[in-house]
Amino acid sequence: MTSIATARTVADLRAQVGAWKQAGERVAMVPTMGALHEGHLSLIALARTEADRVVASIFVNPTQFGVGEDFDAYPRGEARDAELLAGAGCDLLFAPGVGEMYAPGFSTTINVAGVSEPLDGAARPGHFGGVALIVAKLLIQCGPDVAVFGEKDYQQLQVIRRLVADLDIPTRVVGAPTARAADGLALSSRNAYLTPAEREIAPALAAALAEAGRRLRAGESVERVEATGLAALERAGFGKIDYFEVRGAGDLARLGPGPIEGEARILAAAFLGRTRLIDNMAVG
Ligand code: PAF
Repeated sequence: MTSIATARTVADLRAQVGAWKQAGERVAMVPTMGALHEGHLSLIALARTEADRVVASIFVNPTQFGVGEDFDAYPRGEARDAELLAGAGCDLLFAPGVGEMYAPGFSTTINVAGVSEPLDGAARPGHFGGVALIVAKLLIQCGPDVAVFGEKDYQQLQVIRRLVADLDIPTRVVGAPTARAADGLALSSRNAYLTPAEREIAPALAAALAEAGRRLRAGESVERVEATGLAALERAGFGKIDYFEVRGAGDLARLGPGPIEGEARILAAAFLGRTRLIDNMAVG
């Protein structure tokens, strides 16, 4: 069994990162909420190519979960996660408790207007405020040269890019390609909630996005492609569909109704039973 050094306090995190920087080493950070899978390990692998040292954080952040969402049920297993991180060549795990991150009297909020408002911002009010807050705190606490986030949470990545630019946080944000199962399903900690029957249906989300990409590239209108995508998810057996939309790749502005020009992203979120799946694909 491989073990990994673990910091529980901001002071310990800063002491270790400070020592590395003093020695001239570059540091990358990979923020996570744990329940690690191959997708997270691919972020660690990418981080290792970007810096001399890699810090991963595990913190299930209460402020990014809405009322009635799965904060309490979110899968937690630090011992297993720590072993995976050590095996992947991560140098330090930062795993603070809630009190370390949100001390009594904590009062600050962050609102990244614009890019955080549509899609998941509309479906999960307050979610991106919580993400922006915790990511700003983690980057300020750790001070990494580079931070790596998965493109699976594409809107989150764009919100973080905006946040880091607006607040002059001296960290370069790197997006990592989505890791997928052999049948195309994007890897996610929440896939663990799927029943065997739901798991059979789940790859239809990636398939619908890929089909939408082909149609857009063939010159079909955004309006038609979105309608076809929604219908494909309904046919496949998805329940509530929060969105299936084609948006501008950078600012996530609404596109259409005609054919696309320039870089676009197709994004979708839909429920299978109680599990909400999200995925996205590039069209350029
Ligand atoms: O993507 C996640 O796991 C989380 O939203 C993040 C970026 C670690 C913030 O809690």
